[in-house]
Amino acid sequence: MIVLGIESSCDETAIAIIKSEQEKSVLKKEILSHVILSQIDEHKKFGGVFPEVASRLHLENIGLVFDEAIQKSGISLNEIDAIAATCGPGLIGSVVVGASFGKGLALSLNKPFISVNHLLGHALMSRFIYDDLEFPYLLFLASGGHSIIGILKSPTEFIKLGGTIDDSAGECFDKVARMLDLPYPGGPNIEKIAEFGDETRFNFPIPLNNKSCNLSFSGLKTAVLYQVQELKKQKSALTVQDKADIAASFQKTVAEVFRKKITNAKRVSLELLKEYEISSVVLSGGVAANKKIRSVIESFAAKNKYKCYIPPLKLCTDNGAMIAWAGTEIFRINPKINDISTDIIKEHIFNQKK
Ligand code: KG4
Ligand code: ZN
Repeated sequence: MIVLGIESSCDETAIAIIKSEQEKSVLKKEILSHVILSQIDEHKKFGGVFPEVASRLHLENIGLVFDEAIQKSGISLNEIDAIAATCGPGLIGSVVVGASFGKGLALSLNKPFISVNHLLGHALMSRFIYDDLEFPYLLFLASGGHSIIGILKSPTEFIKLGGTIDDSAGECFDKVARMLDLPYPGGPNIEKIAEFGDETRFNFPIPLNNKSCNLSFSGLKTAVLYQVQELKKQKSALTVQDKADIAASFQKTVAEVFRKKITNAKRVSLELLKEYEISSVVLSGGVAANKKIRSVIESFAAKNKYKCYIPPLKLCTDNGAMIAWAGTEIFRINPKINDISTDIIKEHIFNQKK
């Protein structure tokens, strides 16, 4: 089976082609091509993603990205079995570009179109990489727009245990980075300067430090802002070391939030969902690229005898392979699927309120 996946929900125009084949008990999978065109340089000057610019750039580039993906894959168009595209959540103008391109392609090739939820793409990415990752698993999904904890039972069933009540983890990294005059995207830049910072210098509060699986990041963001203002009052500008210390102390606090919340999720899942045998934990989304946060989840897993799965760094952030792979998983469950006539934005399993 060959599935082409299109991702255009934010600032990456990405297309990947994934081939999968059942060989005895093993599903063999291979990325035939993967082209990502990042718009980051265009958005840097605005300090974040400028939605109108993003959709225009997707429109300009999607044809080029598609041509390159096909050429690099070495396959011909009629070998593709299905077209998958991100159909939300994301910047609506950007989502519409990729989804419409995908629908047009599916119609012209007379192949099914598969609507993929962007978060499901992140949530399933580890199943592409690790053959032994089976459902159900404990999922901590932390991206620029979302932070969700729950149990993924299948590509179509999710039990939400908690989510953010205000900012997402990635958004908090981005906003704190802006306070420190670091360029967009904030996460990797905070991580970079945190390396030479003292994480014990500032004591930031742990938000929603209770037994729930819900998350909150806006209070932490404000605490960092007050600290920055305080230091600026004392000496007019932050030194390079001040910034590194703030970044390290902030990153340590976020990592501690992750540790506490995944521990809560384990307890809640044991209490409420006794019927599920959960033995795996998955960290996914852009924030999963953070080494400190990865190590916190890894040590939680080791301590609690869970198997831990985190995609390699470059597959944590938005990419086309996650959409091609989610499309493949959906298509394998439901080979008759065709979302060509359904609305681009529809209800999805991560939508539940909690
Ligand atoms: O999943 P993603 O690529 O896009 C969305 O679906 O939103 O996540 C992007 C987010 C951004 O907020 C970015 O700052 C954050 O992931 N991020 C990181 C790191 N790399 C990306 N946060 C912390 N540490 C990183 N190394
Ligand atoms: Zn994403």
